[in-house]
Amino acid sequence: MVETQLRSRGIKEPRVLDAFLRVPRHRFVGVQYRNEAYADYPLPIGSGQTISQPYIVAAMVEGLGLTSGSKVLEIGTGCGYQTAILAEVASQVYTIEIIPELAQHARELLESLGYSTIHYRIGDGALGWPEAKPFDGIVVSAAPSRIPDPLLEQLDHSGCCMIPVGNNKQVLKRLRWVGEGWKTESMMAVRFVPMTSL
Ligand SMILES: C[S@@+](CC[C@H](N)C(=O)[O-])C[C@H]1O[C@@H](n2cnc3c(N)ncnc32)[C@H](O)[C@@H]1O
Repeated sequence: MVETQLRSRGIKEPRVLDAFLRVPRHRFVGVQYRNEAYADYPLPIGSGQTISQPYIVAAMVEGLGLTSGSKVLEIGTGCGYQTAILAEVASQVYTIEIIPELAQHARELLESLGYSTIHYRIGDGALGWPEAKPFDGIVVSAAPSRIPDPLLEQLDHSGCCMIPVGNNKQVLKRLRWVGEGWKTESMMAVRFVPMTSL
């Protein structure tokens, strides 16, 4: 997976590639999908949701430009796979999931794998996690029709946000503070589950 799907498509950051070598992706999918866990596509994780394609997770995490001291906010814990990747490259991960069953399952799995720097919340990620701001990175794994204001208010000006935006046609956007405001870069066309609200 790391060679044929990530490195070959331009993922270069050694700490991100190492994280993919360390996190056992097969543990994050149901037993019926174990033989497809490292395949080049998303898989169902229950509750109508999916674990993202490995390359998309890698592109989003690399795009954040995290360091080992970074504090990162993830919206859409899902099965917890990307949460584990983030925990490998950053120092603190704050993750929010709106579906309680997925949140609970991900938490149990991540704790059983020994991850101790992850903070969990069940709720609407569009509100962010104001008590824990500012974040060095924010990564959103469900697509809103527009970027929720609270997220950018909680992002440090030296940080970066990776977020898919759109309804039928979605684009992965990267936001960084330049001069007096947030500059938006369009990275690639993507297909995420829609961001829902409570
Ligand atoms: C593509 S899946 C996440 C994949 C995840 N990166 C993984 O590795 O499994 C998107 C997740 O976002 C969640 N979600 C959708 N809207 C949300 C919201 N407003 N707040 C928090 N989570 C949300 C969905 O329930 C779903 O679990």
